Amino acid sequence: MWTYHNPVAIHAGPGRLDRLPELLAGRDCLLVTFPEAESLGLVQQLRQRLGSRLRGVVDGIAPNPDVQWLAPLYDRVHREYAEVPCIVALGGGSAIDSAKALMCATPTRRFSELLQALEQGLALPAAGHKALIAIPTTAGTGSEVTPWATIWDQAAGRKHSLHQHWTWPEAAIIDAQLMQSLPAGATLASGLDALSHALESIWNRHRNPVSTALAVNAARRTLATLPALMQDLGSLPLRSRMAEAALMAGLAFSNTRTALAHSLSYDITLRHGVAHGIACSFSLPLVLEMALGADDEADAALLSIFDAATGELAVQRLRNFLEGLGVATDPAHYGLPGDEWQQLLQSAASGPRGRNFIRTLE
Ligand SMILES: [Fe+2]
Repeated sequence: MWTYHNPVAIHAGPGRLDRLPELLAGRDCLLVTFPEAESLGLVQQLRQRLGSRLRGVVDGIAPNPDVQWLAPLYDRVHREYAEVPCIVALGGGSAIDSAKALMCATPTRRFSELLQALEQGLALPAAGHKALIAIPTTAGTGSEVTPWATIWDQAAGRKHSLHQHWTWPEAAIIDAQLMQSLPAGATLASGLDALSHALESIWNRHRNPVSTALAVNAARRTLATLPALMQDLGSLPLRSRMAEAALMAGLAFSNTRTALAHSLSYDITLRHGVAHGIACSFSLPLVLEMALGADDEADAALLSIFDAATGELAVQRLRNFLEGLGVATDPAHYGLPGDEWQQLLQSAASGPRGRNFIRTLE
């Protein structure tokens, strides 16, 4: 028995940004975006379409949303835009995840209450939260179709996962035209994040036939598209294919969450500042090796992704793919030689995402 559920209305295709006024349906909104969005002309595109409905722009979103700067931002947004009913998040995972924190209402509209709820895993009041429309400018995060946000607390050396039953975006606009100016490094990291989401939803205790079908399609598309895209960053057809792959990977893991490779990644991002998409993908060949043999259906799905008759060949093809894109697959490269890697593996396996992994590590 299984259930697949995703309530996000998806509007996809080049030029689909035009749909935004219709999706807002007369509501005012606050734009939450990354600092370069203005100089790239993206903010202007929204101003043109929204006019006075766009009540404000928050464009200071940095990578890996951290409680230190989210706290004053949250308090300011809830003071200055208390009555604005909708947030439009434009950017990568950091912009969309930050918007998920900002959409939450707390009893006195203070971030300290949100942080307390995160630390203690408490439910926030369902009433009074803002609606969210997510517009990714990267192909990878999947945050536009999930209810989760990763909120970091670098000073305390930890991360929180924000999740309320209403933190799903109301709608997502997937418009590859908005992704054409994404630089090479971010294109690579986000594309590999998508591959990681797809594979992690297959070697996952919560997989179901729908999530697996989406994940196989997403992974095969990523393998076929990302190397070509890295050679031709301005190609709209390749950007569109990668956007669809990332969307399908997002839909897959929206029902399974991630697993061991993501659990391994958080510490590496915290301690060494490695970009999320690289930190959660360099270990994929090692995790694939551990996943194979645990379940016949998962094995069949994983082998089909790599057109491989054996697990050995699948692992080799995945390693070649990553290394072909310049991503080292040896943990030592990330400051984790033998013993330290084994220690991290053990602690990652017992973390919340690690426990989703298809196999229990000894
Ligand atoms: Fe991820």
